[in-house]
Amino acid sequence: MVQKVHEHIAQTYDSGDRILDAKNKATLDLLGDRLAGWRDPVRVIDMGVGDGAVLAQLFNNVDANFRFTGADLSRNMLARAADTVPLTTIHTDSAHLDAHTAPEAYDVALAHFILAYVDLDTVLRQAWRLLSPGGLLSLSTSTNETARNARPYVERLKKGNPWERLVARRAEHSMADTTTPDDHAAIVRTAEGYGFRELDRRRQETPLTFNNADDLFTFTITKGWGANILAYRWLPVRLGLFLAHKAMHLVPYPVETTHVVENLVLEKPA
Ligand SMILES: C[S@@+](CC[C@H](N)C(=O)[O-])C[C@H]1O[C@@H](n2cnc3c(N)ncnc32)[C@H](O)[C@@H]1O
Repeated sequence: MVQKVHEHIAQTYDSGDRILDAKNKATLDLLGDRLAGWRDPVRVIDMGVGDGAVLAQLFNNVDANFRFTGADLSRNMLARAADTVPLTTIHTDSAHLDAHTAPEAYDVALAHFILAYVDLDTVLRQAWRLLSPGGLLSLSTSTNETARNARPYVERLKKGNPWERLVARRAEHSMADTTTPDDHAAIVRTAEGYGFRELDRRRQETPLTFNNADDLFTFTITKGWGANILAYRWLPVRLGLFLAHKAMHLVPYPVETTHVVENLVLEKPA
């Protein structure tokens, strides 16, 4: 997705959001015991570090000698992460991390909620290169199980007036075009293809209710969970925001859905 959209989201990104907060707790649960007590520096790279909240969670709760690196496409996010936790920053698209890092230079790689922007194969290929043998990849992602819940609404809009049909087309395009993985099985299948082995997993299911267009807009855009609908290079961000908000008035409220997140620990076998 275009960088200007990420810079916009960085201003309101809130890792205290309950889905992110639960994901960060799940990560601590999955990684804490595995990393506790490491005296050699534990070299950790976050491949889309955001505001650095998950690194802070590890730093504050796990007794290990961490050395953190945070990569991100957004300079605003890197600035926020640097205010949160001691880390080295790399300003890059994670698809090009190989141009900025040495191979096998990390013990742990994190890729949390970046699979809508960098496809799973690219993340796995980069992570495999970054990790030393025996290294761990912590992968957290929404799955397409969540977006599938929107299907009936899109089908309804397809039968509507020209504006409704346009919105339906854009929604279908976003769904077809997404790099978000379908489900847990699809992630594991692809990861095994690169040689990774799944060590552990936590599935998160969060019930959501949207009572009106403002609720849906806050979740999708302000918090960034569906921000790829703004991913037109030629579309000014402000106009994209305006159109997205207008389109959200077409949905019959309340909308009830479940947001699915998969948290995995994958190992690059020694
Ligand atoms: C939804 S946030 C997740 C942040 C953090 N990993 C977390 O779990 O809270 C996605 C992050 O990925 C960054 N990002 C998006 N596309 C990227 C790319 N191609 N390469 C690196 N970072 C990217 C965004 O700027 C943002 O900080």
